[in-house]
Amino acid sequence: MIGIFDSGMGGLTVMRAIRDVLPDSDIIYFGDIKHAPYGSRSRSELSVLTAQAVKRLQMNGATKIVSACNSLSASLAVSVFDVFSLEPGHIIEMVGPTVSYLKDVDAHVMLVATPATIDSELYQQAFQMLGKDVQYTGISDLAGAIEFGASRQKIKEIIEYSFEGKERNFDLLVLACTHYPLVTDIFQEVFGKEIRIFDPAFAVAERAKKLFWPQEVGNGTTKFLISEDSEFFRERVAEMFPESPFTIEVV
Ligand code: DGL
Repeated sequence: MIGIFDSGMGGLTVMRAIRDVLPDSDIIYFGDIKHAPYGSRSRSELSVLTAQAVKRLQMNGATKIVSACNSLSASLAVSVFDVFSLEPGHIIEMVGPTVSYLKDVDAHVMLVATPATIDSELYQQAFQMLGKDVQYTGISDLAGAIEFGASRQKIKEIIEYSFEGKERNFDLLVLACTHYPLVTDIFQEVFGKEIRIFDPAFAVAERAKKLFWPQEVGNGTTKFLISEDSEFFRERVAEMFPESPFTIEVV
């Protein structure tokens, strides 16, 4: 079984992409809404929350893990997942697959993410290792606003505010927070149609297929665990996974 986790509904964008490439896998998702947003938390808080999420998924039968949260992925060295008896091929995080997917792209990249992801500098270092320059902007409060149902206008203002006084000389925007693809259309509205937008979920799903198929061919079951009930989460799941029967449990 594949276990996917995030602070809340953001990881659903990754789960959707994984479900598209692995329709027969059994998938369990954990959204830690009680502790969302993660993006302004310290590295030590994030390590504790990661440990809790991984253990919860393992207790529920997951043997493969996807950290569908950039803030966690960027705060933890993949090697430490060994402490959960997870082999390197059984864990997927966001940064490596995303940067490696973009290695041959010829573009001026702007990376947008939570402050935790930007402050970790992991994305910047990974791009640097490939000899690529990348610009970046941390957007405070955006993931939380999306998670808790802020208005379109409010979300637009948060994005615009974070770019105030910044040059906009990029042509590829990388949404390095899994909540952001839920409002791709608002990013497109703010930056214009000529900017290309990349959702890392596709890179991660490609990696999942490469690593987890065909071992993870099961019955195609879908289960969600959330640490706090949320109508917004329930609505989003129903909207994004209309084809499959699923269960949602508050844990
Ligand atoms: N969706 C997560 C990420 O990719 C967490 C965002 C948050 O909770 O602040 O970083």
